[in-house]
Amino acid sequence: MPANPAAFDSHLPAWDAYLTTPWARVRYDVVAHVLDETLAQLGSGPLRVLDLGGGDGLDSVRLAAMGHQITIVDQAPGMLERARASARRGGCIDQLRTVQSDLLSWRPDQQYDLALCHFVLPYLDLDDERQVWPLLREVVRPGGTASVVSLNPVSEVLSAVYRDGDVRLALRRFDGEPRRTGTFSRQLRSRPRCDVELAAADAGFEVARRIGIRVAVDLLPEDPIKYDPQTYPAILELELALAQHQAYLDAARACQLLMW
Ligand SMILES: C[S@@+](CC[C@H](N)C(=O)[O-])C[C@H]1O[C@@H](n2cnc3c(N)ncnc32)[C@H](O)[C@@H]1O
Repeated sequence: MPANPAAFDSHLPAWDAYLTTPWARVRYDVVAHVLDETLAQLGSGPLRVLDLGGGDGLDSVRLAAMGHQITIVDQAPGMLERARASARRGGCIDQLRTVQSDLLSWRPDQQYDLALCHFVLPYLDLDDERQVWPLLREVVRPGGTASVVSLNPVSEVLSAVYRDGDVRLALRRFDGEPRRTGTFSRQLRSRPRCDVELAAADAGFEVARRIGIRVAVDLLPEDPIKYDPQTYPAILELELALAQHQAYLDAARACQLLMW
């Protein structure tokens, strides 16, 4: 049985609102850029791609449209229906398989060239996260790649200082005050990148690339210019430049690890 199928589906209007923000656009645009580079290294395809906790398929349906074979596993039926609807619109429904399941009880029936697990670990408690790593290891074929995105605690302190101008909030966050997501009304768990890398190594992965997602956009003050569509190309250009630089990695809101 799915763990909590309604927990995400009941917040779809808030999810839609989040998707219009510049920080959501940066998140998907940077990941799309990195995935395109990763797929090019994996061969000419069509490739088998697994999206664990893939939700409405915003990372993976575009890969189906490129001709790859996608499997999304997610507990939320409404999110999965959206993924199918967007694949239908994109003319790639035949390349998409959706599986409604708690990923902790799901058993894979094949291995994949690429397995994604993006923005899912922060919604799991640590014991559940520990079960995801061996699953990822099991589903990635020899020579394949796993892509995991987790949240950085450092950015939570920095954004309190720079974006919110609130040093007391920054100190509380530094002392471990948990964050909640307004979008899904849930507590979020961030984890230092070094700990995530240790978990990856314990599962048998070698980290090949580290990408910082949302370095600058989360630090920008709340000003209308941040939301001006004409500002967005410059924001994205800066984000793509910073994303690849190790010095900015832990300041980013999220970290994408590419592993084999
Ligand atoms: C923030 S959304 C991210 C969706 C997608 N990966 C993305 O980045 O756009 C988190 C997703 O994880 C799914 N999820 C959370 N816990 C899960 C679990 N135990 N089993 C399956 N899916 C889960 C939710 O249903 C939701 O669709």
